[in-house]
Amino acid sequence: MTYQVLARKWRPKAFDQLVGQPHVVTALANALDTGRLHHAYLFTGTRGVGKTTLARILAKSINCETGVSSRPCGKCSACTEIDSGRFVDMLEVDAATNTKVDEMRELLDTAQYMPVSGRYKVYIIDEVHMLSRHAFNSMLKTLEEPPEHVKFILATTDPQRLPVTVLSRCLQFNLKSLSPQALAGHLKHVLDAEGIPFEEPALALLARAAAGSVRDSLSLADQAIAFGAGKVTAAQVADMLGAVGGDLVWPLLERIAAADGAGALAEAERISERGLSCDQALQDIAAILHRVALVQHGARLESDDQDSARISALAGQLDAGRVQVMYQVAVLGRRDLQLAPDEIAGFGMAVMRMLSFGTASSAQPMGARGTPAAAPVRVEAGPAASTLREPEPAPIAPSPAPAPAPAFGGDWTEFVERQNLSGMAGLLARYGEMESFEGNHLRLVLPEAHRMYAEKSYQDKLKAALVPQFGAGFRLTVRVGETNGRSVAAVRGVEAQKRLDGAAAALESDPFVRDLVEGMGAQVVPSSIRPAGEKDSEATENRRGKP
Ligand SMILES: Nc1ncnc2c1ncn2[C@@H]1O[C@H](COP(=O)(O)OP(=O)(O)O)[C@@H](O)[C@H]1O
Ligand SMILES: [Mg+2]
Ligand SMILES: [Zn+2]
Repeated sequence: MTYQVLARKWRPKAFDQLVGQPHVVTALANALDTGRLHHAYLFTGTRGVGKTTLARILAKSINCETGVSSRPCGKCSACTEIDSGRFVDMLEVDAATNTKVDEMRELLDTAQYMPVSGRYKVYIIDEVHMLSRHAFNSMLKTLEEPPEHVKFILATTDPQRLPVTVLSRCLQFNLKSLSPQALAGHLKHVLDAEGIPFEEPALALLARAAAGSVRDSLSLADQAIAFGAGKVTAAQVADMLGAVGGDLVWPLLERIAAADGAGALAEAERISERGLSCDQALQDIAAILHRVALVQHGARLESDDQDSARISALAGQLDAGRVQVMYQVAVLGRRDLQLAPDEIAGFGMAVMRMLSFGTASSAQPMGARGTPAAAPVRVEAGPAASTLREPEPAPIAPSPAPAPAPAFGGDWTEFVERQNLSGMAGLLARYGEMESFEGNHLRLVLPEAHRMYAEKSYQDKLKAALVPQFGAGFRLTVRVGETNGRSVAAVRGVEAQKRLDGAAAALESDPFVRDLVEGMGAQVVPSSIRPAGEKDSEATENRRGKP
């Protein structure tokens, strides 16, 4: 007997065998049972989540000899022929390989003929976004005025690439990627039924590696069975996947969260020593941080999630902004692995970045900061780093809120440094350079690159923040124009540049940091983070001598 791959053997033949996708199944079943048939359906979703499977079940549902329903008999010749892909009235095309307009035309020409044995002629067009424009147009004609006996079922992994003309004519269903828990559950069900012994943690590893795809989870299970000579153990699966195994990534993250640099580097070393994949380690770290971020934003952990205690602990220890940055470091670190002198160095750098972004504080006045400590892990990484923490009380500045704010002595930069301006007000204040302050009228200039902070909403926020100090008559005007590098952002940039040498400079001048900061700018709400990228963009600007 030949071995049939699991993904084939376990293709669901009825709606109730599908894993996940309850929203789609319910809607389709209701429509079928109440006789509300549409003439074109579109299934979207990543690979291996059930698009083709659903298309076939739908084809059976409308062609089963026992009648149209959500429970096709599975025994009549229509059902069995559809299951085996031999049904004359079902035409399956893969648009990825048949993009030619002639083929499409030929295919659609057959639409005018009545079905041979079924109730409906069913056209299943997979990866429909791959069709050429002409082929699309040719299909559109039939789609616009389909004969009564024709049903279209389109599937695509990339619905964005479909013309609206097509989208608007289809009833669309979005299939979801499956959670690791759902995939592991399905694997358990399949392996139990196949009589293959397994260890539960092995299934969790396979499920995670499958990244949401049922097909991939089953293919990986096939490999694991072959690899383990008939049984599926966690150690073998970890080996097969080149996985790090949670036991190693967790302590690393926990050391980072505890700001224990030496401990974290030791954990990182253990990972590299074991010859495990650094890429996988970073991927695992990113996956964990993603879950931590979800929890911080109010998501509930699945009750059967074995890692929930550790996730919650990290969510409590790390602040949300820091989690975002660490995530970026992990994701970009993977990309940079190829560019690093070697994998281990690249991985070590990523770990150091995770440590350094967050060990600096933002509220200390410029001059009061010492030189960076010698240990690489305590390096201060400049403004980007300083954006990530709640400001610590500065040693010489008065405590923030209740005390009356110090008067404005005419030096805007120095003044802003002492203020606790956050969010939009803080951004405008930091990027703005003072042009004049006369008759309680403050004029700021913004460099072209930060024109967005000239918007009224930013001005209103800054004005509101300053009125308590300058009185009700205070006026603020902001224009965009030439600057002289005297904004807080620009000054800080230069200062930071001076401070950073040795390891710190290496870290800072790194193009990676720029990516990170740019990435952050797009992701973090201004109020949760002090202006990132100020040094970076402004300093570059000054160097270029931009008008
Ligand atoms: N939702 C699902 N429930 C159960 N098995 C699934 C599901 N989605 C995919 N599979 C498995 O993956 C295989 C391929 O699924 P398929 O429907 O062809 O995916 P695609 O979305 O790429 O068209 C199926 O034969 C089945 O074994
Ligand atoms: Mg498919
Ligand atoms: Zn039937």
